[in-house]
Amino acid sequence: MRIGLLTGGGDCPGLNAAIRAVVKQATGEYGHSVIGFRNGWRGVADGDVYPMARSDIRNVLPVGGTLLGTARFHPHAADGGMDAVMATLEAERIDGLLCIGGDGTLHAASKVAEAGVNIVAIPKTIDNDVAGTDLSIGFHTAVNIATEAIDRVHTTAESHNRVMVVEVMGRHAGWIAVNAGIAGGAEVVLAPEEPFDIEQVVKFLRHRHRAHANFSIVVVAEGALPRAGSAMEFEQQLGRYGEIIAGSIGERVSTEIAERTGFDTRLTVLGHVQRGGSPTPTDRILGSRFGVAAVDAVSRGESAVMTALRGEEVVMVPLDEVAGKVKQVPADLLRVARVLS
Ligand code: F6P
Repeated sequence: MRIGLLTGGGDCPGLNAAIRAVVKQATGEYGHSVIGFRNGWRGVADGDVYPMARSDIRNVLPVGGTLLGTARFHPHAADGGMDAVMATLEAERIDGLLCIGGDGTLHAASKVAEAGVNIVAIPKTIDNDVAGTDLSIGFHTAVNIATEAIDRVHTTAESHNRVMVVEVMGRHAGWIAVNAGIAGGAEVVLAPEEPFDIEQVVKFLRHRHRAHANFSIVVVAEGALPRAGSAMEFEQQLGRYGEIIAGSIGERVSTEIAERTGFDTRLTVLGHVQRGGSPTPTDRILGSRFGVAAVDAVSRGESAVMTALRGEEVVMVPLDEVAGKVKQVPADLLRVARVLS
């Protein structure tokens, strides 16, 4: 078989572990060829390909990012994009295409599968919001980074008697905010799942500072929004592909807290730091498991499916059941963040 491989959308730690597993399993176990597409769907549309060899994946496990490169490019949304994709796949005689990506890449994958291409997808995103899987590649590392950052901000907040606002990634779901907030002991966690009232946040902080503390940590997911009709109006700033412009909600929340309480307040925007650097063992293992499972699935002739972690097991789920859907933080986890504040 000739297997195509791409990584699309925002990069994250653990992608190289998945790429390595795909190349090893495909060439070693089955004797397939692996054709790498550079820069996600753009490389497929442009015919930017190369045959992958064992030498390409040497020593990549601890390395962040993606050795294939990536881009936010959606062929179904670009003029002539789908035709270009189909032409390249035909010219390269691709029998099955493995797509490693988050919501945008998986949506594109489902469109290409509808056009008759054998597709197996692998979920990755530090946001952890891909539906159908307990975990996506990159999330575990991002939570580690965000937790460490909150720990560090804690000591300086305490020394200066300050309110520290920490903005973390999470466009449609607050997985990083809630998990790192709980792990780092944040006083307030604001997530997209529960629109907030700035007056309530401020009331809580005033009470806490009067009663027993002189510092607080407020974690804000970049996709958090004020409750409609509440005291603060805010318009989200989006980039070309719907990505959120980092810092806007954090800046606003921090200013509102400072002005309404008079407390000395500072903002830290973690931004792309959360997406960089070496993956945790959990992400290396998840990437490796998904890579092996994806090659097994495409070799069995499966198509329009995605690898997913369900409990301890890696299973295959239909792509059309998950593409375009968002997995949000469940109420019980949101509650833990709330009761521990
Ligand atoms: O999709 C993951 C994500 O990290 C989002 O949380 C964030 O909004 C976006 O990527 C940022 O994208 P870019 O790298 O294009 O700025």
